[in-house]
Amino acid sequence: MMKQQMLEHFTKVFGDAEGVEVFFAPGRVNLIGEHTDYNGGHVFPCALTIGTYGAARKRADRKLRFYSVNFPQSGVIESSLDELEPGRAIGWTSYPKGIMWAFAGRGMEMDCGLDLVIFGNIPNGSGLSSSASVEVLTGAVLRALYGFGVSNQDLALIGQYAENHYNGVNCGIMDQFAVAMGKKDNAIFLDTNTLNYEYAPIALEGAKIVIACSNKKRGLADSKYNERRSECEQALAELQKVCGIKTLGDLTEEQFEQYKDAVKSPVRQRRARHAVYENRRTLRAVEALKNNEIALFGQLMNDSHVSLRDDYEVTGIELDTLAEEAWKIEGVIGSRMTGAGFGGCTVSIVKDEAIDAFIEKVGKAYKDKIGYAADFYVVEIGDGPQML
Ligand code: GLA
Repeated sequence: MMKQQMLEHFTKVFGDAEGVEVFFAPGRVNLIGEHTDYNGGHVFPCALTIGTYGAARKRADRKLRFYSVNFPQSGVIESSLDELEPGRAIGWTSYPKGIMWAFAGRGMEMDCGLDLVIFGNIPNGSGLSSSASVEVLTGAVLRALYGFGVSNQDLALIGQYAENHYNGVNCGIMDQFAVAMGKKDNAIFLDTNTLNYEYAPIALEGAKIVIACSNKKRGLADSKYNERRSECEQALAELQKVCGIKTLGDLTEEQFEQYKDAVKSPVRQRRARHAVYENRRTLRAVEALKNNEIALFGQLMNDSHVSLRDDYEVTGIELDTLAEEAWKIEGVIGSRMTGAGFGGCTVSIVKDEAIDAFIEKVGKAYKDKIGYAADFYVVEIGDGPQML
């Protein structure tokens, strides 16, 4: 159905849909393991069944033409293969162009241009990785249409590279990896230090994953994100003077308590404490899930939020309200902010019979306190990139 719709969009914008291929790449939600991926820790995200669709066709010349159904006011954005260097993209086209640039940098140069129409059904600016979704989607398009020999894991690495070096966001590997390596009904237990990973089935009998979107504009997200990263790097350098670690993820809680005074500022100490404890929490959460201890998994999600609120300071009143109101409701197994923070979403595991009350009560308390509404989505775990 979506394939047909995308072909119709393509026809409307570019005249006909002869020879057009349609692709999909998911968004992602992280269940636990937040702000650990650039600290050599573990993460536990999953791909969603919502994401980005793309209809694409090669051209005979070197032109690139982009159109987003989500931003019709931008119209068709034209560029060319000779304008791929950083700094020349307009708006959202910096994501597909960053990928084309990164492919070319690895010796995979497109020999002709492309027309691309995309449509995303991930809520806007929600922290569910719409940008990683567009990046991996573009990688899947280039792989299929130009015959580039890259794996899904390569698509994740190329996506992160483009985000870091083309778009200037110093993100870790989690988002692109979750999007590129997604597997239906499974979360991905990833060691970001080695990229070793394991799929863990999420069989939530009688419960669902519910996302609450704060609708807060994430204005400062990128600069604050980079600031947290450098605070952790500094803390690591201080700790390395007293113990032989490569990343904060190498430390147990006990080791951290033993060495923490090497970190001279109290703020940096709290940042490092979050990174260490959150990593250990993620290991325990995955273990709990394997043992079918879902209540413990939920408690660890709640603890994760508290640590992100108090030690890492990336939540804010909007995400705190969503999580703290959720904790009050019977049938909520766990609730926490997900993604970078500073706005965006919470992820909650909610028993089926409590979902309506959850949406109503959290929604009302949020609107009363914050002044505008949150949006709620009951989501499903889906597969990675596909050609439809
Ligand atoms: C953003 C980044 C990820 C990760 C999360 C926080 O989503 O893109 O790499 O650091 O924030 O866990």
